[in-house]
Amino acid sequence: MDEKVQIVIDGKSYDFPVIIGTENEKGIDITKLRGETSYITVDNGFGNTGSCTSAITYLDGEKGILRYRGYPIEQIAEQSSFVETAYLLIEGELPKKDELSQFSQSFTAHADLHKDMISSFSGYPQGGHPMGLLSAMICSLSGYYPELLAPEPSQEEMKKTAAQLLSKVRTITAYTYKQSLNQDFVPPRSDLSYIANFLHMMFSTKEKEFPIDDIIVSALRSILILHADHEQNCSTSTVRLVGSSWANMFASISAGVCALWGPLHGGANQKVLEMLEEIHQAGGDVQKFIDKAKDPDDSYRLMGFGHRVYKNFDPRSIIIKKRTHELFDKLGIHDPLLEIALKLEEATLKDEYFVKRKLYPNVDFYSGLIYKAIGIPTDMFTVMFAIGRMPGWIAHWKEMKENPKSKIGRPRQIYTGATERPFVPIDQR
Ligand code: CMC
Repeated sequence: MDEKVQIVIDGKSYDFPVIIGTENEKGIDITKLRGETSYITVDNGFGNTGSCTSAITYLDGEKGILRYRGYPIEQIAEQSSFVETAYLLIEGELPKKDELSQFSQSFTAHADLHKDMISSFSGYPQGGHPMGLLSAMICSLSGYYPELLAPEPSQEEMKKTAAQLLSKVRTITAYTYKQSLNQDFVPPRSDLSYIANFLHMMFSTKEKEFPIDDIIVSALRSILILHADHEQNCSTSTVRLVGSSWANMFASISAGVCALWGPLHGGANQKVLEMLEEIHQAGGDVQKFIDKAKDPDDSYRLMGFGHRVYKNFDPRSIIIKKRTHELFDKLGIHDPLLEIALKLEEATLKDEYFVKRKLYPNVDFYSGLIYKAIGIPTDMFTVMFAIGRMPGWIAHWKEMKENPKSKIGRPRQIYTGATERPFVPIDQR
């Protein structure tokens, strides 16, 4: 028999169906709540609200489980490529060889930016935050590809838009970096892999080819895969919400980039590095900063700690920490910031405040150290997160589009303002 939940309001009982996921997660379907009872639910920060059903990513925050389309993140991060992971997330299955090669080729075909778009980089002030430019450039792709803006796109159109976004996000990022340095743009090369091509556009110059190091490619591969999707986080929910109005994929994902920018979400990776630098400058006393974060009268937080969903450990941070050590060992890097990060983690693991609130290092805690080692400037860390998250945003936008039951997102509220009162003309106030 189908499971139901009874809600009693003013002595009258109402039945609501229970939706059960493939991992036995349960949700009360309250779609008819307001119609039948005139009540709504209130859930600050949506901590208990399922906005959709989704077959893309499963995570269990208590057990530290993360799977893309059923495949454990540990196995994907070890064995897959970023492009293959993107295919898996967007198309739902691991690609066969010819499917993967076609998918990769579509990136090669779309890597270049339109010449008018290239010239628009110079209109952006130097020193402006690259996330602002990334969001603007992604939205402006809609101007260059008007044929991809149909409110009900075909499969073919969605594939083309996805390829444009996945490919061009690298070029936009690299050109943003070049613009910040006042250097010439380095065009993409069709003979390089996804990540190698990105590194080439970032770090080669007119005079000198950047030597592609497999160790760096491999570290970046892991990091991008680990960021590729994380179900209904703030930016992905934003992409879905904007897309639910039938806004096109470029516009929806541009909004997702803005949501990611915030320091409580993807912007945390930049803030982590700034925090580690601050601790280093201040002499390396981690306890001082821990005490500040614990002070109820101080809004200061240890960046890179805590997560809305993970309450024991973030499986992504464990893999990234391992990769950080591997990269530093192989490249012979000694960075005092890594030592501070390790000290901070060790001290918080023993600290009652952090233990009680289940605050552990999250994905953003160690990623910045890898970016720094590769030579990516601090203000571009969140842009790197955006490159990684692109497949997830696309997969969710597509899943929403393909669901015939999708509706425009339109939450309710409980109004707490003034009750009706007569308007007072300005000279009588
Ligand atoms: N440092 C110190 N205290 C913290 C921290 C922190 N990083 N995070 C949460 N707390 C405290 C918070 O003050 C509150 O304490 P109290 O119960 O005494 O009021 C308690 O822990 C619960 O915090 P919350 O804000 O209600 O938790 P949340 O689930 O709404 O927020 C979070 C989750 C990630 C926004 C938060 O932990 C945070 O601000 N962390 C720092 C920013 C960060 O690293 N963000 C990256 C998240 S992972 C990447 C991504 O996918 O976005």
